[in-house]
Amino acid sequence: MTAGSTEPAGGTASNEMLRVENLTKHFPLRSGVLGRRTGSIRAVDGVSFSLGRGETLAIVGESGSGKSTIARLIIGLHRPTSGRVLFRSEDITGYDDARMRRIWRDMQFVFQDPHASLDPRMRAGQIVAEALAIRREGTVAWRAEEAVRLLALVGLPAEHATRYPHEFSGGQRQRLGIARALAVRPKLLLLDEPVSALDVSMQAQLINLLHDLQAELNLSYVFIAHDLAVVRHIAHRVAVMYLGRIVEIGPRQEIFEQPSHPYTQALLSAVPIPDPEGREKRSRIVLRGEPPSPSDPPSGCPFRTRCFKVAPICSTEPPLRDVGGGVMSACHLAGPAAANSAGAAEAKGTVDA
Ligand SMILES: Nc1ncnc2c1ncn2[C@@H]1O[C@H](COP(=O)(O)OP(=O)(O)OP(=O)(O)O)[C@@H](O)[C@H]1O
Ligand code: SF4
Ligand SMILES: [Mg+2]
Repeated sequence: MTAGSTEPAGGTASNEMLRVENLTKHFPLRSGVLGRRTGSIRAVDGVSFSLGRGETLAIVGESGSGKSTIARLIIGLHRPTSGRVLFRSEDITGYDDARMRRIWRDMQFVFQDPHASLDPRMRAGQIVAEALAIRREGTVAWRAEEAVRLLALVGLPAEHATRYPHEFSGGQRQRLGIARALAVRPKLLLLDEPVSALDVSMQAQLINLLHDLQAELNLSYVFIAHDLAVVRHIAHRVAVMYLGRIVEIGPRQEIFEQPSHPYTQALLSAVPIPDPEGREKRSRIVLRGEPPSPSDPPSGCPFRTRCFKVAPICSTEPPLRDVGGGVMSACHLAGPAAANSAGAAEAKGTVDA
């Protein structure tokens, strides 16, 4: 069994919204003046997961771990090197724009930087009304009214409809991006770091909004973030990525309370704990160095060059396997006994008290 061929727990067949199977994207690595192909960037390397209706899967990992590439593969902005994407049981892998147009009514993308995706010459109301026109519903007047209703739904008052994107704050622009995405009445939102550019209080407000919208509209979310703290209150399940692979995936509670993979343990050790008692019990794990290049990943366990628990067995690749509690983990040492053992880190790594 390889990491990619495993099917983690997720939505059951009847309520399944999205399934990706062994999804892989290798970009050509070119060098020299002629731009000859000299290798591959393994941006996404055999990723599998599923997502149920009304469910949020958070995808978390450091910069360059392949999170955005997964979202782009799902929405059809990239073609996979191999693997499949199934949306409501329909195999949409490799669909061209013409065929994806129907899918985009049900699946929308919210970008990290709404600045880049909002037309600076259009007013907020027009931006949302234009998205409404995709469904070819209603008159121009109806669409203008509906745009104001959608702006209100995301907490932007009616008078904001006449503003241009640059006249909004970062948080308001992100709300506008969400209103535009909701205009086509999607079932699934791919949210690529939707709150990363915002300050902490604005992040909380936007996460509350997404939470309420999910309950009201029965939306499914793929929520991408750098940081586990951001997804703590919104994720139902969490997938942790490292070098293009899922290294751990499972229910939020298990991931936060009993992380089985040393990488998850390290990420989690950086998350502030609200109660001071818990803070005392947990040590901060500082990982050595930067992640290796996805064009030259380590052999064996991809995390072994930075892992504080590395052992001789780690020169062989660990499969993503069931370690109990609905969690799949790609660590040879993972298991109920190894869970949450940040304090048991060996002297090989740096553990800051
Ligand atoms: N179009 C592309 N051509 C070549 N390489 C790419 C392309 N898009 C992404 N990559 C590479 O693929 C890897 C994964 O990139 P990706 O953008 O998916 O990471 P990410 O996890 O979203 O990072 P971040 O947190 O910084 O947004 C990186 O090494 C990146 O440089
Ligand atoms: S398999 Fe080895 S190197 Fe990889 S995460 Fe587990 S202990 Fe660390
Ligand atoms: Mg990204």
